[in-house]
This record gives sequence, C-alpha cells and structure tokens, in this order.
Amino acid sequence: MTDRSLYTNHNGDHNGDPVLSTTALSMVFGGLIALDRVDLKVERNSITALIGPNGAGKTTFFNCLTGIYPPTRGAITYQPEKDRQINLKGLAPDRVTQLGLARTFQNIRLFNNLTVLENVLIGCHCRMKAGLFGALLRNRKTMAEEKAFIDFSYDLLVRYGLQASVNELAKNLPYGAQRRLEIVRALATVPKVLLLDEPAAGLNINETNELGALIENIRSQEKLSILLIEHDMNLVMKASHTIYVMDYGKLIAVGAPSEIRQNPAVIKAYLGEE
Ligand SMILES: Nc1ncnc2c1ncn2[C@@H]1O[C@H](COP(=O)(O)OP(=O)(O)O)[C@@H](O)[C@H]1O
Ligand SMILES: [Mg+2]
Repeated sequence: MTDRSLYTNHNGDHNGDPVLSTTALSMVFGGLIALDRVDLKVERNSITALIGPNGAGKTTFFNCLTGIYPPTRGAITYQPEKDRQINLKGLAPDRVTQLGLARTFQNIRLFNNLTVLENVLIGCHCRMKAGLFGALLRNRKTMAEEKAFIDFSYDLLVRYGLQASVNELAKNLPYGAQRRLEIVRALATVPKVLLLDEPAAGLNINETNELGALIENIRSQEKLSILLIEHDMNLVMKASHTIYVMDYGKLIAVGAPSEIRQNPAVIKAYLGEE
C-alpha cells in the first residue's frame, strides 16, 4: 500500500492545475502486474519526474499514456486547456500525438539514413493537411504547406542547437546530438506534454548537464509540461519540480526533490536494486 502521508503538496510556483493525470491506472501482462493503481499528475508547465529501479513499470506507464498498450484498468485524463477534458484511454498512438502528447524512446529511434532536417519534418507529419493526394499532385497549396513545415523545422533546429547539422544523415551525428534530435523531432508535433524516456542514457557528465539545460529551456520556451523518466539522479534532482517513485508497478513516494532524497522507502528501493 502506498503511504498517503508521502503525498505532500508543495506547489511552489505551480497552481495545482494538471495537464495530464492518471487515476488507478493498471496494466497486467499475463500474470504480471506491471502497473498497479497508479495515480500521477503532471502540473501544467512543470517538469515531473518518474523514477524507479529497472523493471519498475516506467516505460509501460508511457506506453499506456501514448496508446501503445491499452491499460487494463483506470483512467487517463488530458486537459490541453483548463476547461477541456479528454479521456485518452483507448485512443490510438497517432491520435494521442495529434492531441498533444509527444514522446522519445529509451532506445534512440531516428531514421538513420535521412537527414536531420528530414527527421524533424517527419515529426511534423501529424499536422500536415495535404495528405497523400496533395503530396502526389504537388499543387500550389501542398508546396506552400511543405515550405512552411520546412521553415518551421529549420527554426526548431536553430533554436535547439542543431543548425550546423541540418543536412547531415542522422546516423553520422554524435550520440549526444542524436538524443537531442529525437527531442527536437518530438517538438515538431507541437506537443503540450513531452514524455522523455531516459534521455540521459549513454550521455557523459557534460552532455547530461547540457541536456538538463535543454529540458528547462524547452519547458519555458515552448510553454509545455514535461514528464521525465530518468536514472541520472543529479539531473532528476536539479530539473524536476515533483518526483514520483515507482517500484514493482506501484508508486511508493511522491514529493519535491528535497523530500524524495531523504525518503526511506526510496532509499531502500534503490539500495535493494544491486
Ligand atoms: N509487452 C510486454 N509483455 C510482457 N511483459 C512486459 C511487456 N512490457 C513490459 N513488460 C514487463 O513489465 C515490467 C515493467 O517493465 P518496464 O515498464 O519496461 O520497466 P522500466 O521502464 O521501469 O524499466 C517488466 O517486468 C517487464 O518485463
Ligand atoms: Mg524503461
């Protein structure tokens, strides 16, 4: 059972206005309860972290939010605006992306043989109106739309430090830049919520620090909310406003970084890992 006393309210500059929340979200694979009644809230314009040992259920949580797995039980409520509520449960991944949830993956998933710019253009795809006919006929309207998306993508790459490599093949970028490109591609969908699955995996200390700055930059410039799965505790403690801790599919703690750092259940879950 989750100890309710761990659920403290520490709003700081946030006003308790969730953009995304789950209620008793559960996911069962055969006999395995990968998610067990998870209640999690992402406040508007915040950075919320989800941490926990390997196999805790973090990626499964993202897969349920983004329509990859239909959750076994529970609710997912998305509020793109304060007075608009959308139930995401049961929606297909494309629809979830269109509505404003974008994600990156634990293992980089770029189109290796496409250029950096083309990778970002693919991220724009969910917003294109032309469709297949327009693309084939290449009428004036389609060309204008294409040009607008190229400009938009180029601008994103400039703003997030990849302008020097727009025409490089994705596979030729250094690893850290590939991670950055994945995030920029997610931004091309113009999300309201950005879900990052272990973005610091494989990065060195300098790259991880740069990533921390990038995440904060994105939050403030794009006015979006971020849910961050991450193992790098330095990054998590510095970047997040609120941290949720999961172990064996259950939330065992939630609080501000200073609270989580000293939480005995959290320390135990992590020490028990090795
Ligand atoms: N498609 C699936 N089928 C069966 N079991 C799965 C599937 N996806 C994840 N799991 C299991 O669910 C548990 C949680 O996995 P995961 O969400 O990847 O953990 P984390 O991201 O926290 O490391 C693990 O025991 C994993 O083996
Ligand atoms: Mg994972």
